[in-house]
Amino acid sequence: MPEKMVRISGASTVLWILFAASQAFEVEISPAHKTMAQIGSSMSLTCKTTGCASPSFSWRTQIDSPLSAKMWKNETASILTMDPVSFENEHFYVCTVYCGSVKQERGIQVDIYSFPKDPEIQLSGPLEVGKPVMVKCLASDVYPSDRLEMELFKGDQLLKTEMFAEEMEKKSLEIKSLEVTFTPGLEDIGKALVCRANLHIEPEPQERETSTTLQVYTSPKNTVISVHPSRSLQEGDAVTMTCSSEGLPAPEIFWSKKLDNGNLKLLSGNATLTLVAMRTEDSGNYVCEGVNLVGRNKAEVELTVQEKPLTVDISPGSWVATQVGDSVVLTCTVVGCDFPTFSWRTQTNSSLNGEVRRTGATSTLTLDPVSFENENSYLCTVTCARRKLEKEIQVEVYSFLEDPEIEISGPLVHGRPVTVNCTVPNVYPFDHLEIELLKGETPLKSKHFNEEMGIKSLETKSLEMTFIATSEDTGNELVCLAKLHSGQMESEPKQRQSTQTLYVQVAPKETTIWISPSPVLEEGSPVNLTCSSDGFPAPKILWSRQLNNGELQPLSEDTTLTLMSTKLEDSGIYVCEGINQAGISKKSVELIIQGSRKDIQLTAFPSESVKEGDTVIISCTCGSAPETWIILKKKAKTGDMILKSVDGAYTISKAQLQDAGVYECESKTEVGSQLRSLTLDVKGRENIFSPELLALYCASSLIIPAIGVIIYFARKANMKGSYSLVEAEKSKV
Ligand SMILES: *[C@@H]1O[C@H](CO)[C@@H](O)[C@H](O)[C@H]1NC(C)=O
Ligand SMILES: *[C@@H]1O[C@H](CO)[C@@H](O)[C@H](O)[C@H]1NC(C)=O
Ligand SMILES: *[C@@H]1O[C@H](CO)[C@@H](O)[C@H](O)[C@H]1NC(C)=O
Ligand SMILES: *[C@@H]1O[C@H](CO)[C@@H](O)[C@H](O)[C@H]1NC(C)=O
Ligand SMILES: *[C@@H]1O[C@H](CO)[C@@H](O)[C@H](O)[C@H]1NC(C)=O
Repeated sequence: MPEKMVRISGASTVLWILFAASQAFEVEISPAHKTMAQIGSSMSLTCKTTGCASPSFSWRTQIDSPLSAKMWKNETASILTMDPVSFENEHFYVCTVYCGSVKQERGIQVDIYSFPKDPEIQLSGPLEVGKPVMVKCLASDVYPSDRLEMELFKGDQLLKTEMFAEEMEKKSLEIKSLEVTFTPGLEDIGKALVCRANLHIEPEPQERETSTTLQVYTSPKNTVISVHPSRSLQEGDAVTMTCSSEGLPAPEIFWSKKLDNGNLKLLSGNATLTLVAMRTEDSGNYVCEGVNLVGRNKAEVELTVQEKPLTVDISPGSWVATQVGDSVVLTCTVVGCDFPTFSWRTQTNSSLNGEVRRTGATSTLTLDPVSFENENSYLCTVTCARRKLEKEIQVEVYSFLEDPEIEISGPLVHGRPVTVNCTVPNVYPFDHLEIELLKGETPLKSKHFNEEMGIKSLETKSLEMTFIATSEDTGNELVCLAKLHSGQMESEPKQRQSTQTLYVQVAPKETTIWISPSPVLEEGSPVNLTCSSDGFPAPKILWSRQLNNGELQPLSEDTTLTLMSTKLEDSGIYVCEGINQAGISKKSVELIIQGSRKDIQLTAFPSESVKEGDTVIISCTCGSAPETWIILKKKAKTGDMILKSVDGAYTISKAQLQDAGVYECESKTEVGSQLRSLTLDVKGRENIFSPELLALYCASSLIIPAIGVIIYFARKANMKGSYSLVEAEKSKV
């Protein structure tokens, strides 16, 4: 080529010499010398003239091959356009211009290349830690490939570089690649993998690169299942199983159940698997699988679902005691069965005599009212699918409605036997009955009624006992305690009791009489007869006088019988009786009344028989009784005449016949009055006598006498008139 150039230069020099002599004819080509054009793009070569009015242009390649371009021209320039640029355009293009006969030529070398795409990175598979992987860096449609250089970097590290310098046989677009095998590690995560391709062409080398971030994967491992609440479950329970698996990228979780034939049945694509209302069929192996791009990892768990334990409860218990007429509810409850069926029966297969009701998992049997027919064992049978359970309750019937009654044969009297009868009415079953009698806390007698029972019926049972009552029993309680035992040994007997407080009567005794002042008395003096008697309750006192025929004449119910002024007739036997419900106690006393020394005396002096004219003194003297009124009087048909006396003496100076008659002296004291009389006989000669009234005091009561007399009586009263207790005690009979 340099030879040709020289040759062209030589010709131009000749032309230029010719042209320069006339005018400046110039040709210019652009781009100037050499150009690079990419295949597929468009490119123009311009041939421009100056100094020529009408130039003519022609284009040719040096080796005279087709131009593979379009031409265009105006007055001064010609443009050769290659669109698109192809391998055929790689030539030395020559523009020939004639200006008249002057010819000028210009040439330009057109070089082509192809490097249209960034290189491509290909991986033999996903990057998995520890597994070798081949990375391919690919540059396609490259020309001229002998100018290509490729480099592969991992982060900053150059993995491989290559120059593709081998000679090309023909012009073609080539694919060149660079392959590297490496083993990724966890440290590679996030690093850039860079493929760089350089096409070393003049004047502008081309560079393209592709970068990708390393995705390093790890296969799932450590797949773990956690089960809540437990692997062993009961029917109806719920279970939650959570599965986790490690890996990059994070594995997806799949839950399956292992079927009998070993296949897996997919259940869920969620890490958490919740199974509710489990049944026994849900027992088995559950498989969790963690899956990602690079692998899978399994874990397995076995769940066992057991049948719920079936329990049947009967209430109030295994045994219930209930009173005739009451009502009782037997309740049968089942736990652990969703659809139970109930049935009730008695052990003797008799009629239930009750009402059955069902609510959900409970069945009740109501016995109302309870009767003897209900005395039985009742069985509640629960059926749950294939299972069956039976519970029994024994119903014990009793009757014990009333407290015992205490009956005592008669009044309680000290020292006498008494019979107590304690009766328990309407009791059932009496073969469980015990009756006990107690005095205070001391047991007296008890009885168990063990006889065989004929038919079921309410019976009345009693316990009887006899004892001698004593006064010490008073105030004590008589207790009748009835116990109705149950057929169940461990249960407490039912009790009822009655009590009665004892009052033991004591017959009157030690009846005593006190006499005050003394059983022997002077007529007119007072006497107190006092009586007492012991007994319980306190005896009533009755005073009587014993008559001659032996009968008693009741006098007083006071303890003290007072005779204010005793008379001679009061002498006799006085009887005191102490009386209560338990008996009578008697005591008697004799009272002797003697004539009083203090009696008044009525005398006639000198005699009760006088002659007319005689002097007679009728004198009334009273004893020493104090405060005594004395009245002296003469009896007459027309009425009594009170006589005026001096010191109780009435003097008839000259007795006359009329003075004869009955004279009376009456004395009055606090205790009574006394009367004395005498008959005066006057004989002989007639005489006239006009009697005078005489009212006269007994010496003791006269006002006239001197003060000394009063003092005398006062002293006397001191000595004798007072009642002395000491004396009264002494005279006790
Ligand atoms: C002819 O074309 C060239 C290139 O496009 C241009 O520079 C020139 O001015 C044109 N001449 C005329 C007379 O149009
Ligand atoms: C998994 O279950 C949880 C809780 O039920 C729920 O919130 C979540 O959306 C579920 N995820 C999928 C993928 O089903
Ligand atoms: C119980 O009585 C019923 C009829 O009342 C009878 O059908 C059943 O066979 C009896 N069962 C037994 C165990 O006697
Ligand atoms: C005790 O009382 C019962 C019931 O009132 C009666 O049947 C029984 O005969 C009585 N016994 C005596 C000894 O009174
Ligand atoms: C008799 O009893 C009464 C009353 O207690 C008493 O006032 C009186 O002095 C008693 N008389 C005698 C004689 O004891």
